[in-house]
Amino acid sequence: MKARMSEIMAPEFAKRRKAKISEFNKPNTMLQWVWDDSSEKDRTDEHQSMIQILATVPTAFAATQALFDLAARPEYIPIIREEFESVCDSCEEKRPTKEAFGKMTKLDSFLKESQRITPLALVVSFKREALENIDLADGTHIPKGSHIAAPSYHIGLDESHFSSPETFDGLRFHNLQQAEFERTGKPSTKYQYVAVNETSLHFGYGLQACPGRWFAAIVLKLLLGLLVMQFDVKLMDKGEGRPKSEIDRFFIYPDSTKMVVLRKREGV
Ligand code: HEM
Repeated sequence: MKARMSEIMAPEFAKRRKAKISEFNKPNTMLQWVWDDSSEKDRTDEHQSMIQILATVPTAFAATQALFDLAARPEYIPIIREEFESVCDSCEEKRPTKEAFGKMTKLDSFLKESQRITPLALVVSFKREALENIDLADGTHIPKGSHIAAPSYHIGLDESHFSSPETFDGLRFHNLQQAEFERTGKPSTKYQYVAVNETSLHFGYGLQACPGRWFAAIVLKLLLGLLVMQFDVKLMDKGEGRPKSEIDRFFIYPDSTKMVVLRKREGV
């Protein structure tokens, strides 16, 4: 994938190297932001393509999985529609701001539940190599050179962390957040889509947790929100149920042969 992406993107990177893009005709795109923010040694086709892959592929898969979940559970469509519309209505010219996306807690919860059940990584995340001997507080010794990882997928399906973990509950994290608020009287970020903690590891953990997760959350909310505002969403083949995912060694991919039906809403 990296090689193919490099091939497609090479002319774009070449333009930037030959300074054909000046301050005056700079595109306002992620390709350009990443280029501008990179040091000279990172301005290779390979490195720049890798960043674009890291940014686009997991987001596209998350969007597809969430769309399949929505098509299979249309009862969530009016809930998401109502929330998206009321948050947009409260914004100037009905254009949602970054803060407004933070108020879409039901859509946020739906995305997180979709990710809990069908994350990108099948087995682990938070993969690290120990660069020195490490002794943890509980006595665990991690020798220099060992590779460690966290079983993110199975933690997400563990009933000691999540009640009825096999059940898709699109409002699970919204309700947990509400309960936390009622208990403490303070808003909590613990159950947000972008939260990383011991039971939510699909964006990794610690200092190197995914830096693009806030951007991904906005893209996904905008995509799903606009989609449900304009269309009714249904499974193509109801009898088959929610499309199964493909498992390829360490990854879970949405089935690219499956489709959903989008019907334009009347009067929209
Ligand atoms: C739903 C979408 C996404 C998912 C599930 C995802 C997941 C991940 C995961 C699991 C890691 C490894 C973190 C760790 O080892 O602790 C990671 C790293 C990274 N992600 Fe994302 N990501 C997503 C979207 C994005 C986007 C949109 C961008 C850029 C705009 C991005 C940029 C990166 C970068 C640069 C790293 C490497 C960070 C480092 O090593 O310091 N990701 N992502």
